[in-house]
Amino acid sequence: MTRGSGRSPFAPDVLPDGRRRYSHRAVVARRTLLVGVVAAGTSIGVVATRAGGVDDSPGVVGVAGGDPAVHDAAAQPAPSATPPAHSLTEAGSPWVIVNKQHPIAPHDYAPEIAVVGGKEVASTIAADLQGLLAAAKSATVSLGVTSGFRSLAHQQDVHDNAVARDGVESAESVSARPGYSEHQTGLAVDFSGSSRPGCLLENCFGQTPEYDWLVANAGRFGFLRRYPDDKTDVTGYAPEPWHWRWVGTDLVAQMAAKGVTTMEEFFGVSGGSTYA
Ligand code: DAL
Ligand code: ZN
Repeated sequence: MTRGSGRSPFAPDVLPDGRRRYSHRAVVARRTLLVGVVAAGTSIGVVATRAGGVDDSPGVVGVAGGDPAVHDAAAQPAPSATPPAHSLTEAGSPWVIVNKQHPIAPHDYAPEIAVVGGKEVASTIAADLQGLLAAAKSATVSLGVTSGFRSLAHQQDVHDNAVARDGVESAESVSARPGYSEHQTGLAVDFSGSSRPGCLLENCFGQTPEYDWLVANAGRFGFLRRYPDDKTDVTGYAPEPWHWRWVGTDLVAQMAAKGVTTMEEFFGVSGGSTYA
């Protein structure tokens, strides 16, 4: 690259033997950038420390490599992560993490609502959910929505009924306390299938053609199975093959590329079965 007004302020001079020498201007410019990245990373840490768990490390996405020459010169630690593209804490964010350590804020949050498949959901997911249901129908797969948005009061009823029916411990392995349910964001959907009606909200939904279709296709519409079979210790919930969370196709692709199946692990945010 030649010197000129379009030259990057971060670019080093290249010496005749191939080594790079950073001008003061380049070091200052890159130090400024690094401080910004570290500061952004710290704000993710604040998100995580809200829960005070041991795995409250900053996000693990996109580890940013630094140039040793710059780090030596500027005495800055290498940034360990880039910030997520969307908030992990704002209730209306596509990437909000809601679990037993991270309640919804504000407590009585409700999204803008749309009705899809006869159920209320956040309007932000309406087009994708509609697309998913239409694609399933075209494939002669009989998927439906049995639960979408649930208000704080509705979740209280659901939780109270589950506790009355099954006892606290069993109920809380599948039912969130009010203020801690993804359903309150309107971004979570419980799917039903008509091939085996007796499997509604039961583990055997995971052995239906409707579930197989979801596994193969839901990601195209931005949906992620939120409570995998082998991640109860991370999510805090027993496996729920029917409960899918809309996060958008970007995050589905990023998680798949890294082979990570929970939002908690992907972003390094605390979870588990203990309430904050
Ligand atoms: N069934 C999920 C965990 C909820 O109650 O939100
Ligand atoms: Zn659910």
